[in-house]
Amino acid sequence: MRTITTLSEFKQFRDSLSGTIGFVPTMGALHEGHLSLVNKSNHTCDYTIVSIFVNPTQFTQNEDLSTYPKPLEKDSTLLKAFKVDAIFLPTNEIMYPEGFSTFVNEEILSRELEGKSRPSFFKGVTTIVAKLFNIVNPTHTFFGEKDAQQLRVIQKMVSDLNSSIQIISCSTVREKSGLAMSSRNEYLSAESRQSASIIYKGLKHGLSLLKNGERNPDVIREEITKIFQLEPLAKVDYISISDNISLEEINGEIAGDILISTAVYIDDIRLIDNITYSSD
Ligand code: PAJ
Repeated sequence: MRTITTLSEFKQFRDSLSGTIGFVPTMGALHEGHLSLVNKSNHTCDYTIVSIFVNPTQFTQNEDLSTYPKPLEKDSTLLKAFKVDAIFLPTNEIMYPEGFSTFVNEEILSRELEGKSRPSFFKGVTTIVAKLFNIVNPTHTFFGEKDAQQLRVIQKMVSDLNSSIQIISCSTVREKSGLAMSSRNEYLSAESRQSASIIYKGLKHGLSLLKNGERNPDVIREEITKIFQLEPLAKVDYISISDNISLEEINGEIAGDILISTAVYIDDIRLIDNITYSSD
């Protein structure tokens, strides 16, 4: 496995490859969720490249950029065991040199859901992912459904910008308790990690209401809120019942493909999760 930190070395490496190239962009602090993407890439493509870069432009000032976990040696060992061909580990100076002034901005899907709580988040994500796509030049790329809106936004960006990269979506990997794996779970104490399992319980309750024929989004939101209220450490940011394609909030009767998504603070750590349902 090659560990590459410079653009020139990466170009030389990339030029030596032919065949299908799978790319898994990450911010590191790898867990089984990330590794499921790597595994899928290994099975789909001739080569697998993973990037680890904690992207400053997707964090706002009061977020956790400076404390974001960076267990580089552990990550590297995990990726080696998965027989990844290369890790690309650029620095901030490489990705955002002085005078950097070009951003990629998806302007419709990005404004929904997470975009309401974190208005500049997706601009940072689309910019860094577009840059990484240009550097890595993959045939395939792998994104998790855990970040459902991110996946939709990247799909839209690839389509709008006429990129031919194939995006493969990968289902959410969960802990036994149902808690979706996330690098931010590392901030949780054992007790709050247990409390955080309420998030998936709430979502599953919403799903069961839909399955039983409930079509009023207000009722589903209220019922999920009641579940979250059972957990004193949980503070809800939002609970959304949206169209799974447009990501627009559903106000009338529920129909079509539905995304139930939520952001919940557990002990001041903001966690997101979602579940989908097709009502047709
Ligand atoms: P990060 O949070 O490190 O996630 C990297 C990839 O792993 C994303 O596609 C994410 O959806 C996926 N992932 C995370 N947790 C998962 C889980 N429990 N199950 C399945 N997949 C999971 O998302 C980012 O980094 C950044 O925004 C990035 C795209 C790298 C741009 O900076």
